[in-house]
Amino acid sequence: MENHSEDADNRPGMVENGRVANGARTLRIQPLTAADEQRLSALVGEVGWGVAPGRLNAMLTVGKGFGHFLDETLITSSILFPYGRELAFLGMVIVHPLWQRKGLGSAIVKKCLELAEELGVNRVGLLATDAGYPLYRSLGFETVERVHRYIGKPKRITRGRGGHVGIHIRPLGETDWTELISMDQEVTGVLRKETYMAFVKTVTTAIVARDGQGQLLGYAMASEVGDMLIIGPLHATATEVATELALHLTQSALGQVRIDVPAGQTEWMRVLLALGLEEVHVSPMMLYGGQGLPGQRTWMFGIMDAALG
Ligand SMILES: CC(C)(COP(=O)(O)OP(=O)(O)OC[C@H]1O[C@@H](n2cnc3c(N)ncnc32)[C@H](O)[C@@H]1OP(=O)(O)O)[C@@H](O)C(=O)NCCC(=O)NCCS
Repeated sequence: MENHSEDADNRPGMVENGRVANGARTLRIQPLTAADEQRLSALVGEVGWGVAPGRLNAMLTVGKGFGHFLDETLITSSILFPYGRELAFLGMVIVHPLWQRKGLGSAIVKKCLELAEELGVNRVGLLATDAGYPLYRSLGFETVERVHRYIGKPKRITRGRGGHVGIHIRPLGETDWTELISMDQEVTGVLRKETYMAFVKTVTTAIVARDGQGQLLGYAMASEVGDMLIIGPLHATATEVATELALHLTQSALGQVRIDVPAGQTEWMRVLLALGLEEVHVSPMMLYGGQGLPGQRTWMFGIMDAALG
């Protein structure tokens, strides 16, 4: 644990190399636990991010997080999600706006990278914001992929009852779990069972697609965040399956829909445009250590979550 002092009032003190110059208050890095949910929620609010209800608790439960505490106030956060030794994902990297550009972001990310090394994790991936990109570059992260964000109010598509012949969409049930986890492992190259178990409790809808013989073709989940329906993950063996899953999730959506799509899915992006969504941003997926992301990523039509990968 690192202890630093800070000026006696609430103004940010001078920080050099992650240390506050002088004063009576204490700035220290501490592990985050589920008990820090409200503090993390307040910090998330400071940078204007929207998070699905219950998602922070799920992340604090399955992830290994750290934060700078100024006395009892959380002013930074960073959470590592280890998926075995092959890959960990880094998310929720936030520094309170009053405390940015003082080296705290770098310090809190390094803390997670140290933990990854202790755990013997080969690669750490993340989805970078524009603000985070220079920081990650300076720490040795490299861009390995890009993720395109699509947002819009989906057009109503008139189609026959029953949807696409040969693709049957059903709500996710207990009996789907084993196959879903194994398909996710095929898509991402890592086992994310524990994360899914926590994640699914925070989604609004979860559906699976099967063919006439009962073979799993794909699955999708969606979470309501304010007026926005965020789709993710959306994994499917073909674009037409992804389309059926997306139509099923979005046709009753009243507000806007968002999905984060890996760059290789050009045909899928055309489908999203036809549905009435627009590309609003492209973010780099970055990797620390290792050469590239594992898995059968052509089946990834929507990432699970910006923080979880
Ligand atoms: C991205 C973010 C976490 C960076 O945190 P930070 O504490 O400002 O990061 P650092 O201070 O370690 O480094 C940021 C910059 O400050 C500079 N810096 C570091 N110490 C400094 C100091 N004492 N004085 C002035 N500048 C300093 C760094 O060189 C770096 O400069 P660069 O951007 O030109 O490379 C923060 O801006 C943030 O929370 N943004 C909103 C949420 C977000 O986008 N998070 C990233 C998700 S992927």
